[in-house]
Amino acid sequence: MAGTEAVLDLGCGRGLLLIGAARRLTSGRATGLDLWNSEDLTGNSAEATLANAGREGVADRVEVRTGDMRKMPFPDASFDVVVSNVAIHNIYDREGREATMSEIARVLKPGGHVVIHDIRYVGDYAAALKRRGLTDVTSRRLQGRPRRAPADHVRIAQAGRRDRTRRGGVIGRVGLA
Ligand SMILES: C[S@@+](CC[C@H](N)C(=O)[O-])C[C@H]1O[C@@H](n2cnc3c(N)ncnc32)[C@H](O)[C@@H]1O
Repeated sequence: MAGTEAVLDLGCGRGLLLIGAARRLTSGRATGLDLWNSEDLTGNSAEATLANAGREGVADRVEVRTGDMRKMPFPDASFDVVVSNVAIHNIYDREGREATMSEIARVLKPGGHVVIHDIRYVGDYAAALKRRGLTDVTSRRLQGRPRRAPADHVRIAQAGRRDRTRRGGVIGRVGLA
């Protein structure tokens, strides 16, 4: 990362990727979007996430928004990087997950990158993003000890939209805590 990017973390929860991205930014900004479902994550709130950002010294680079990733409250082409960790599978219907992929393609800037880590449906995400014109879409299983990384853990890395100025690279490995 150059440090100047606008980064979006979908279903940011208490900020694992959001804060990790913010630590790599200089003039850039990291935005977390979440509905703060307590069934998905205990103690889930915008306040808790902002407090974590403060503890990590990145509060000046972090913003949290309340909203649904199926209909994001952002203009088209707003973000250089979109990330999500173990969040999209919480949308239980296929239509909702497809709507999320449409929204990712909409808010991503030309030349932007997407990194998704999830416990299921990742092949579907990859296919959906390809159908929406993203390029260099790959998905793969994470390596890890079986008890910590079940075999169906896969990720999409380096999905860029068609653009001659596209920058390569993945913003970082997404592992299991
Ligand atoms: C298991 S938590 C993961 C949180 C965080 N990404 C992490 O790695 O710690 C899933 C998160 O997705 C959020 N979420 C679920 N459905 C959502 C939706 N439709 N729009 C936005 N956030 C959603 C939940 O509120 C929760 O914070």
